[in-house]
Amino acid sequence: MLQQYNPKNADIQVWVNGLCHRNEAKVSVFDSVVQGGDAVWEGLRVYQGGIFCLDKHLERLEHSAKALAFSEIPAREEVKKAIFATLQANGMRDETHIRLTLTRGEKVTSGMDPRLNTKGTTLIVLAEWKPLVYDNENGIRVISSSIQRNSPKFLDSKIHHNNLLNNILAKIQANVAGVDAALMLDANGFVAELNDTNLFMAKGGVLYTPHADACLHGITRGLVIEIGRALGLQVVERNLSLTEFYNADEVFCCGTMGELTPVVAIDGRKIENKWGSSLKEQVHAAFERKVPELSEALPF
Ligand SMILES: Cc1ncc(COP(=O)(O)O)c(C=O)c1O
Repeated sequence: MLQQYNPKNADIQVWVNGLCHRNEAKVSVFDSVVQGGDAVWEGLRVYQGGIFCLDKHLERLEHSAKALAFSEIPAREEVKKAIFATLQANGMRDETHIRLTLTRGEKVTSGMDPRLNTKGTTLIVLAEWKPLVYDNENGIRVISSSIQRNSPKFLDSKIHHNNLLNNILAKIQANVAGVDAALMLDANGFVAELNDTNLFMAKGGVLYTPHADACLHGITRGLVIEIGRALGLQVVERNLSLTEFYNADEVFCCGTMGELTPVVAIDGRKIENKWGSSLKEQVHAAFERKVPELSEALPF
């Protein structure tokens, strides 16, 4: 499903180290994000007057920035203030997606060396009216990609950074194949995740997901594991091959952008539920019940 421009976003205010109209919201050509994709980011959702798992997202942003040795990481309260100010300026209390980016900042001259960054980081809060991105009713179809997800040997997937080119190349393969997303393997050929969300499968009443070695350690993934166990389900993290996914009773992906979405076909193999009941539906219903409890209320 291709996302569309939403005219409701025509006049939104965007935070780029301060608020401005979207048409004025710009970063310098000297900014690290332009020069080297040298930035970290988070995608967050606003539900009914609250930001879902806000502290977890900000903690991951801080960890990513520390791993990349950013010299000044803004205090969590400062980032929260910027997010709240942006949402308030746009009257956004629901149905909103926030793309939060922290770049290493502007350089004194073009170049790779972080010592050229003397002006502090650039914080961008892009909040848009946006419904859930995937079709959670009818599900999505995916293909396996020849592009592998990074292992810690190369660029650790635990850094949520802006060098998204391996995922983008995989997504191009999915586009060419006419499906919704690309399934990416790890360096050993086991399933890692989709190009934009984490993966789970159910077989014989047990829920499985790949180790978070080559995939992003998704916040939704963590919650699905927690909720599954709280429901009394067996949840197993292990290496999983494509063959196991082809023959699963259910496959679903998860992430902030779409919650939990059924994957109905992988490489043309239909996923057929021979188990009968749906673990995905059980977990998703419990996830929705937890949304208010896990959301930080907006102060306006
Ligand atoms: C590659 C990838 N996998 C998974 C996810 C889902 O993570 P989360 O549940 O924290 O939104 C994201 C979200 O940004 C992602 O970019």
